[in-house]
Amino acid sequence: MIGIFDSGLGGLTVVREVMAQLPGYDLIYFGDTARTPYGSKSPATVIQYAVQIAEWLLANGARVIVTACNTASSVATEALRQRFQVPVFEVVSPAARLVIRNPRIRSVGVIGTRATINSGVYKKMIKAERPEIKVYSRACPLLVPLVEEGWLKKPETKRIVKKYLYPLRLKQIDTLILGCTHYPILKDIIQIKIGKRIRIIDSSQAIAEAIKNFLRDHPETEEMLSRNSDHRIYVSDITEHFKEIAQDILRIPVRLEHVRL
Ligand code: DGL
Repeated sequence: MIGIFDSGLGGLTVVREVMAQLPGYDLIYFGDTARTPYGSKSPATVIQYAVQIAEWLLANGARVIVTACNTASSVATEALRQRFQVPVFEVVSPAARLVIRNPRIRSVGVIGTRATINSGVYKKMIKAERPEIKVYSRACPLLVPLVEEGWLKKPETKRIVKKYLYPLRLKQIDTLILGCTHYPILKDIIQIKIGKRIRIIDSSQAIAEAIKNFLRDHPETEEMLSRNSDHRIYVSDITEHFKEIAQDILRIPVRLEHVRL
């Protein structure tokens, strides 16, 4: 099984992409809804949660780990790779690579949680390969709670997105990285507020492509993954409201199961 986790339901945008790009592969998802958001927690706490969740995913049949969370990817990837022998995919470098490989890109905006932006990980990766690209980052800490709350079309959400993106508009970026797996759920609003000519890079799509390419090049890993279209979604806290949001994101009927770590 492909093991996928996030601080909450936002990582289901990665599940959606994995289902679309790798149809039939069994997957197990863990959304840490009891402890979300991670973006305002310290790196030490996020690492502790990520290790605990990866252990649980592996104990429950995962053969690879997908960190469907930019925050955990930014701070916990090294700890996960040191500790576990299985392939660990993180969500940051696939999106950064899309920028690096596109010669037309000159000026990039990155939005993410406070922890992701403070880690500077996108800027470091892009600048290491393409120092001439301008990178402007902006933490948007209110967006994860708005998504988890299901406030997807409220005027307040539109106003907050506009306020967060305004400084990036002034910088005349040509590309915007959605550096948080919750943000694709707000993609339409983000596109309108940043301007329809701006290219949007969705880290959820980028990681699904990276997994697909890796499995094509590593048949020994691919062979370990079962393909019975078995999709299991677990959360650390469950309410009717979470079920509705999960359904909205995945656009299919969802059965959420509760698990206490
Ligand atoms: N989806 C997570 C991310 O990509 C949100 C982190 C949080 O819980 O704040 O960063």
